[in-house]
Amino acid sequence: MTVVETTYRVDGPVDDEELTTLHERAFRASGHGFVPWSKRLKRHSICWVTAHRGDQLVGFVNVIGDGGAHAVLLDTVVLPSVQRQGIGTALVTRAVDEARSLGCQYLHVDYEPEAADFYERVCGFQPTAAGLIRLG
Ligand SMILES: CC(C)(COP(=O)(O)OP(=O)(O)OC[C@H]1O[C@@H](n2cnc3c(N)ncnc32)[C@H](O)[C@@H]1OP(=O)(O)O)[C@@H](O)C(=O)NCCC(=O)NCCS
Repeated sequence: MTVVETTYRVDGPVDDEELTTLHERAFRASGHGFVPWSKRLKRHSICWVTAHRGDQLVGFVNVIGDGGAHAVLLDTVVLPSVQRQGIGTALVTRAVDEARSLGCQYLHVDYEPEAADFYERVCGFQPTAAGLIRLG
């Protein structure tokens, strides 16, 4: 059996259609429409990490920032067919390292209860009290 290596890249180019499809597959949702990822990332993100196997995009995570101490981790996704192989952990680890190297002091994330083990025990986030207002 051929083992295909996973390659990780910080701030690499993304194909908008491919990343939109990856999100739909990971969240098992469709119909949310095309997302102009490249434009959004360049404008709003401080860094992002992609994972590829061969030419295929299999994972992604995004980090936005306030220009100072705070950054927020968003959009962690791994293609369902390759989940539970360590790709999500590797993506978040690289995002943490990159946010630190950019001078951020706090990396925030929020998540559904099902992802608590992944973010807390595996990736090292400490649970905090946090709040959210749905604006629309
Ligand atoms: C959450 C997600 C990114 C994890 O990616 P992944 O590549 O499968 O994660 P890893 O293989 O690095 O997982 C490492 C460990 O985290 C935990 N973990 C990961 N996914 C889990 C899940 N769905 N349920 C429970 N524990 C999970 C396990 O302890 C796992 O170790 P194990 O496989 O030896 O049991 C992926 O499941 C995903 O894309 N989910 C859909 C999108 C989503 O919900 N993203 C989070 C948005 S906040």
